[in-house]
Amino acid sequence: MRSAPDRSGAAPPRRIEPAALGRPLLLVNLKTYPTALGAGAERIARTLEELGRSTGVPVAVAPATPDISRLTAQLRLPVLAQHVDPVDPGPRTGFVPPEAVAAAGARGSLVNHSEHPLSPSEGRETALRLNRLGLVAVVCARDVAAARRLARLRPPYLAIEPPDLIGGDRSVSTARPEVILSVVRAVAAVSPETVVLCGAGVHTRHDVEKARELGAQGILVASAVTRAPSARNALAELLAGF
Ligand code: G3P
Repeated sequence: MRSAPDRSGAAPPRRIEPAALGRPLLLVNLKTYPTALGAGAERIARTLEELGRSTGVPVAVAPATPDISRLTAQLRLPVLAQHVDPVDPGPRTGFVPPEAVAAAGARGSLVNHSEHPLSPSEGRETALRLNRLGLVAVVCARDVAAARRLARLRPPYLAIEPPDLIGGDRSVSTARPEVILSVVRAVAAVSPETVVLCGAGVHTRHDVEKARELGAQGILVASAVTRAPSARNALAELLAGF
């Protein structure tokens, strides 16, 4: 017997495959660095895709929103948004609902990055909306307490990034190993399928190796690539740590 049609208009919840973007994962957040906008975003993403393919390491990229469709039209690697707004599509100006990035070909979005924080309810709503559309949520936590709370959303990916280390020279994996260990344990206890990433200050293969020794299954990185004299050399250095 067919079930009654869902007249709520909400898409039925769709299950995101565990590790849908791959595991381990190198996720490059281009932020809005001038070198990583427009053609610059395409250059970095193309190099990332090429090196990911040659090394066999799963990779993904999060460009500025206007560049999402440029990258999805040209390349095959997973493209994520850096942020989406937990709103319905419709009579809204300047917002970016998950449906908009899905229409641009994105595979998912960062949620609650410390540079674009959301309230707990906004974070939950955003993650649920992404999941309902079959989009991958990479939920970001600034500390262990936030990671423990956000793990209850059972997101496909959770990234721990201490804000004070972001953009600096000290890697989270060497400066705060205890934070990574605590987050890995906290998330495993609540949502074993969630893949834990870490980021902030990661630059070298040693930073990546150390993070993986601590239990992180991927890296979120920005300035090591976007501020490098050679994005290719920077990406090769990071990938050598997987
Ligand atoms: O989303 C990743 C980013 O916040 C880390 O920044 O420059 O320390 O690699 P960065």
